[in-house]
Amino acid sequence: MNETRVSRGVAVSSLADVIAIDGPGASGKGTLASRLAAALGWHLLDSGALYRVVGLIAQRRGIDFDDAESVAEAARNADIAFKDSAGTLPDASPIRVFVGGIDETDAIRSAEVEQPASRVAAVPAVREALFVTQQSFRRPPGLVADGRDMGTVVFPDARLKIFLTASVEARAQRRFEQLKDREASGSLRAPSDSEHENPAGSLDAELRAIRASTEARDERDRTRPVSPLLPAPDAVTIDSTEMSIDDVMAAVMALVQERGLGR
Ligand code: C5P
Repeated sequence: MNETRVSRGVAVSSLADVIAIDGPGASGKGTLASRLAAALGWHLLDSGALYRVVGLIAQRRGIDFDDAESVAEAARNADIAFKDSAGTLPDASPIRVFVGGIDETDAIRSAEVEQPASRVAAVPAVREALFVTQQSFRRPPGLVADGRDMGTVVFPDARLKIFLTASVEARAQRRFEQLKDREASGSLRAPSDSEHENPAGSLDAELRAIRASTEARDERDRTRPVSPLLPAPDAVTIDSTEMSIDDVMAAVMALVQERGLGR
């Protein structure tokens, strides 16, 4: 049956299948989700980007991250658009994120936005404001959604739920490499003068700082009262500490086939 549900003015097709990928930061969710969406020809939702946009707006406007009413208002009024590199639809990877018509992809991916994003994500009214936006990504032929609460709250009827984890050391190392790659490609700031003076020492310090920031974010995401980071009871947990992205992709594609999903 082809059923269309209209929720607060947004048409949501409950027919389209969803694959939910949840887990802590830098566990490989984003890479897995975009590869999976490309392999299946499905839509893609990077829900973390939405929280990052709200964190960025709050940071730039000097809004107190705990001021629930002001951050929720920023979330409600944010003009967010996802576009692929050709500037068309929000599906193909790599996706660019526009806020008020300005490409803010690099800004939201910077390390400075991680804590603000996780702080505003703990505000229930912010989550409520972004709920319908997230559901509107659910369209045929299907959606791969990655985040923290895709399988538990936003798409509880997802046909496949993956909870992707990795040790904190592995995740901090991956985030560190991602940030270095982006810095090398010129999409992030160059190291400051003090970093130039002691490059080896600063790399170590940077890795330690990333690990501390990852742990702080995990702790806040896990312990918040609303939509905490938790595997859904019916999720398949994959620990990617010792796995390459190709290994993870192969394991998930086997589950996709087992469940008769995709083409
Ligand atoms: O996945 P990413 O690292 O981009 O997410 C940034 C932050 O947004 C997370 O630390 C988390 O606090 C929040 N988030 C969330 N729920 C989601 C996705 C992200 O609370 N579904």
